[in-house]
Amino acid sequence: MADSVALLLRKVNAGAVHPLRHLVLREGRPFEESIFSGDEDLSTLHFAAYDLNGKVCAVVSFFEREHPSLSSPRSYQLRGMASHPELRGRGCAKALLQWSEEELLSKYGCRLIWCNARQRATGFYESQSYVLEADPFEIEGIGLHYRMHKYLKP
Ligand SMILES: CC(C)(COP(=O)(O)OP(=O)(O)OC[C@H]1O[C@@H](n2cnc3c(N)ncnc32)[C@H](O)[C@@H]1OP(=O)(O)O)[C@@H](O)C(=O)NCCC(=O)NCCS
Repeated sequence: MADSVALLLRKVNAGAVHPLRHLVLREGRPFEESIFSGDEDLSTLHFAAYDLNGKVCAVVSFFEREHPSLSSPRSYQLRGMASHPELRGRGCAKALLQWSEEELLSKYGCRLIWCNARQRATGFYESQSYVLEADPFEIEGIGLHYRMHKYLKP
């Protein structure tokens, strides 16, 4: 892995995650498509990793939502995980996700995180101990996805 990046990890407003979300996850599509339903809900959490110059290196959001089949005292759906294309493989996404999980556990009582992972991203989540569930499904216009989850232990 290339040198890791010195990062500042922060809870942010929805507006702070939209530009990188758009660049990485909705490239070439109207900017409005990078605004997700529920982004502004009071229960929704957005986190970002900044480098020391204030550049956004990675973003992720969590929506308070039950997993379709697993029960847990408080569950969040992870969405919009993205790291800057110029900084891939330098630990930005991993650092942000690990810090976000600690925040979710200690401040928000989260015990279960789940996501619908793009096929090409499942290896990243597996490296962070997310469990791959059976039966992939297609999300129109984006491609094949796998549901994945991770229980957080106090
Ligand atoms: C997936 C993504 C967020 C990973 O970001 P990143 O900053 O490159 O990841 P990191 O450098 O923090 O990598 C952390 C670990 O995951 C591994 N990893 C990262 N991407 C991986 C992949 N696609 N497949 C397998 N492993 C991967 C790294 O090798 C590293 O492993 P290590 O800790 O054992 O060294 C990034 O590639 C991205 O934004 N992809 C496009 C958007 C996307 O698909 N998002 C997910 C939507 S579900």
